[in-house]
Amino acid sequence: MNSNRGDSFMFTVTGTTSTYCVLGNPVAHSMSPLMHNTAFRHLGMDAIYLPFEVDDLPAAVSGLKALNIKGASVTHPFKEAIIELVDEIDDTAKKIGAINTLVFTKGGILGTNTDWVGLVKTIETLLPISDHTFVVLGAGGAARAAVFGIISHGGKAIVANRSEKKGRLLADEFDMPFVSLSKLENVQAACLINATPVGMYPQEDDTPVPTQILTRYKAVVDVIYNPVQTKLLKEAQSQGCMTASGFEMFVHQGIEQFRIWTDTTPPAKEMRDVVYQRLMNK
Ligand SMILES: NC(=O)c1ccc[n+]([C@@H]2O[C@H](COP(=O)([O-])OP(=O)(O)OC[C@H]3O[C@@H](n4cnc5c(N)ncnc54)[C@H](OP(=O)(O)O)[C@@H]3O)[C@@H](O)[C@H]2O)c1
Repeated sequence: MNSNRGDSFMFTVTGTTSTYCVLGNPVAHSMSPLMHNTAFRHLGMDAIYLPFEVDDLPAAVSGLKALNIKGASVTHPFKEAIIELVDEIDDTAKKIGAINTLVFTKGGILGTNTDWVGLVKTIETLLPISDHTFVVLGAGGAARAAVFGIISHGGKAIVANRSEKKGRLLADEFDMPFVSLSKLENVQAACLINATPVGMYPQEDDTPVPTQILTRYKAVVDVIYNPVQTKLLKEAQSQGCMTASGFEMFVHQGIEQFRIWTDTTPPAKEMRDVVYQRLMNK
């Protein structure tokens, strides 16, 4: 492999090289190949991680099995659709309703979820989850991972979502309250988590909530990792809140994937640094 971006170095693929991949569409923007290949090279492992832009998910999954792929990440828009295609799903992914990691075993494909681990570790850089209340904006896969992670660590969640129906469904499923976005100014909690794509590149000037409500939170976490510092996080800092970026979540979910696939201690610093550099120099 060679690259003119200065973050890759020579590696020879041979007949013994283990192959890992990410399934998504689009997938060109994914930071996962950079992060996992850096980890493989750092540890001197005979393994490679490839991006696969998928049109036909069932055919792609059959192909992975046939080609003896060792492990896969699953990203947008397949995290829910993949559930029907695995041989086994663990309890965590089942409860979240989304799979972001495939593990290939002798018994078939096991689906699991590491997004919630990434988010829990990110929140815990700011405050403990136990006994705190978190407002989760959104009701999609990232929000479900957030609510699951918060509850499983002894916290309380309040769901706020644009579509009331979808938001209430999520809130009811986890036995948590729902609040409409227009009523957020009446809510007080320890931490606000943006689990919507609002503010993501290239719509970097967007933000999911008005600045004045941010004073109601000690901490604000964004799941968006591009840009690393969203408008929401900049505004939260200006209001005196502690903040954490979806960049941290992304790296932590990847570290957990690497650990599951390889049963090896991941080179966390190298994985973090390479993604950070790429995002800051995009
Ligand atoms: N950092 C990480 O490792 C990581 C991991 C996973 C996901 N993510 C990020 O998380 C974000 C959400 O992903 P997802 O998979 O949960 O997406 P999703 O399943 O499509 O859900 C998106 C949610 O955001 C809401 N939403 C979308 N546009 C909105 C808008 N303009 N105003 C208000 N609400 C809006 C939707 O509300 P409605 O229900 O009303 O449509 C929905 O609840 C993405 O930016 C993704 O990149 C980051």
